Amino acid sequence: MDLIKTSQGVSDKVASLRSEGKSIGFVPTMGALHEGHLSLVKQCIAGNDVCIASIFVNPTQFDNKEDLEKYPGNRKQDCEYLAAAGVDIAFVPTEEEIYPEPDTRRFDFGRLDKVMEGKHRPGHFNGVAQVVSRLFDIVKPDRAYFGEKDFQQLAIIREMVRQLKLDTQIVPAPVVREASGLALSSRNERLAARQKEVAVNISGTLFKSREWANKYSVQETIRKVTDTLDSCDELKVEYYEIVDGHTLQPLTDWTDSDYIVGCIALFCGEVRLIDNIVYKTDSQIKGKQK
Ligand code: PAF
Repeated sequence: MDLIKTSQGVSDKVASLRSEGKSIGFVPTMGALHEGHLSLVKQCIAGNDVCIASIFVNPTQFDNKEDLEKYPGNRKQDCEYLAAAGVDIAFVPTEEEIYPEPDTRRFDFGRLDKVMEGKHRPGHFNGVAQVVSRLFDIVKPDRAYFGEKDFQQLAIIREMVRQLKLDTQIVPAPVVREASGLALSSRNERLAARQKEVAVNISGTLFKSREWANKYSVQETIRKVTDTLDSCDELKVEYYEIVDGHTLQPLTDWTDSDYIVGCIALFCGEVRLIDNIVYKTDSQIKGKQK
């Protein structure tokens, strides 16, 4: 694996690979890598001639300074992990490489970022769009891979690609879970053993809510999920929303959409976690899965 630290170095390398007719796949990460990232890398390797992964903890997407400072990561270990996974190029830039000038761009995502993560973490998605567009500008990937755990982020990145008329195809990858059901996240590293046991209730309750969805209204299902999780020691729900999977707007009735997803953010002690569950998939998605 090549380890490249400069934007120019990556751009030059990509230009040379392209001149050989190679397709470029890209997995952007913030490090603290786990099996979820590995699944993105596997998909990237299978779908492209060259797999590039980046490690960059993007300061502009953290609305909370303490969250940025506590973001886990071990560069050396992460690079070893990428090499073992079969990545061809690891791009590990400094902040100056990504932002030689402060990025003052303001994206307008309409209603997409006024709900859920966008509402509770003001400026977060603007920062995500800044870094991802900057990385895409350097790497110019044919395809880029993002996990569905960050469900709203995926929608925002698709919208950003549409608005900027980029040629990159955005490829989603399903949530990867531990055997216990807990969705893999770099933040899980910050959970104490006891908290990890409690956190299993998150996915357990979301899975159970699929049954509730057959009996109860949207509002009642939201209340049951929230009450169940709030009654667990150390868990405090920030929001649970049941939304249209495309527009991310909250629904009031199960018949309001063919693509329905429940998205949660909650604290386990001091660690903020997110997860989601699909209640209904639309025909477009079913078509693609065939
Ligand atoms: O999902 C992440 O890890 C980050 O938000 C991303 C897409 C790498 C941008 O910093």
